Amino acid sequence: MYLQLWIVAVLGILSLQVFGIKINYEGDQVLQIIPQNKEQVNCLQHICQSSQLDLWKPLQLEDINVTGVVYVRIPSIVLQSVKEDLLHCSLSFELLFDNVSQLMGISEGTKRIRSKRSTTNYEYTKYHSMEDIYNWINLMSQSNSDLVTQHYLGSTYESRPMHYLKISKPSNDSKKIIWMDCGIHAREWIAPAFCQWFVKEIVQNHQKDSRIKKILKNLDLYVLPVLNIDGYIYTWTTDRLWRKSRSNHQNDTCFGVDLNRNFNAKWCTSGSSTNCTSNSYCGISPVSEPETKAVVDFVEERKSDIICFLTMHSYSQYILTAYGYSEELPKSYNETIKVAQMAAAELKKKHGTDYKVGTFANLLYEASGTSQDWVHDLGIDFSFTIELRDNGTYKFVLPEDQIQPTCEETMAAVMTIIEYVNDKYFPNKASTTFGDLYPIALLFYILLTSAPLV
Ligand code: ARG
Ligand code: ZN
Repeated sequence: MYLQLWIVAVLGILSLQVFGIKINYEGDQVLQIIPQNKEQVNCLQHICQSSQLDLWKPLQLEDINVTGVVYVRIPSIVLQSVKEDLLHCSLSFELLFDNVSQLMGISEGTKRIRSKRSTTNYEYTKYHSMEDIYNWINLMSQSNSDLVTQHYLGSTYESRPMHYLKISKPSNDSKKIIWMDCGIHAREWIAPAFCQWFVKEIVQNHQKDSRIKKILKNLDLYVLPVLNIDGYIYTWTTDRLWRKSRSNHQNDTCFGVDLNRNFNAKWCTSGSSTNCTSNSYCGISPVSEPETKAVVDFVEERKSDIICFLTMHSYSQYILTAYGYSEELPKSYNETIKVAQMAAAELKKKHGTDYKVGTFANLLYEASGTSQDWVHDLGIDFSFTIELRDNGTYKFVLPEDQIQPTCEETMAAVMTIIEYVNDKYFPNKASTTFGDLYPIALLFYILLTSAPLV
């Protein structure tokens, strides 16, 4: 009976995907379960495995522990049977969300009619489809061509171009690079929203904000608004909770690689999976994915110029430093943690949001093959993963009304980090005040020294 139900469910999902129909989460529930002993852990793992449930926390079945909190989404069609199975194992559960599709309603990106000719009426407080974002990238570079240029980084698995924006003030001096990518995980929509916000803020304020003026003298900002473009599109067309890329493994039996497990940093050891159905599948080899390769080629070519690497995710409200692949602390730890703490303090001043600061492995979970660790091991100490809002209420489906406060506070954090590395690498040019005051100081000097002559 359950087997039949399950076959119906699987066929349903497959046909949806084949015909390009959106997965419907109507009536799906998210349960919170805390196993109390080893038997219950085994039993819960078995239920999740056999019903192929979507684990929200932890990410992997093996990471379910005694007294560890588990969040899992149960499709409405198997809800009854899964609940019976849980009771069989004496596992009690709490209802976290009683209808996942309702939850998505409030963060849903909807098709909006907007002018294609101007960036002034672009709605930064809404989520945007990839089509919108491609247009926005074009417009941004066309309408600010003295400051912003569009560049090709590579191509995705499904042959879409990956474009990044370079924000750079013309200058004869050689400059260092700040890298920021968003949307390596498809469902973390707030991250691409932040990348767009960041570019807008710099473009709008680069002439009046003294801090932006200062950093743009020494630094070029490279922003990749959506890294995992195929996955992002899939979250709009088919499955809002898709995480990975969309490459095809084992003859259509499973899709996608967790691109943040595909970098060559202790690749596919702890916290990643060799099973292609897993949400943390590391791929067939390090840098097997074209999206990973595009980033790796760029960073390798420019590694002596890149002084800070920021990769934006959600959720958890963390600023994370190396390592993800081990609980040990890197040599850079003291300084990078200090910067992260400064950033979190500035962030909190905006809307009172609390962020935690620590290493990826110690705060989130062990994860090998992350971009942050690969970049760090290449010699770029200031390599951070930033996990944006929220703290667990809406998770990956953060409502649109939180885009603005999230972006405002994140801007404060990111600018703190960028200013710190700027002042560190360009100590002589660190202060704008002297430069700005120099003509006045000179005038005073002339007046004072010439006084005895009068
Ligand atoms: N963006 C995170 C990642 O890279 C997910 C963080 C939230 N998940 C969690 N289980 N706390 O995997
Ligand atoms: Zn993520």
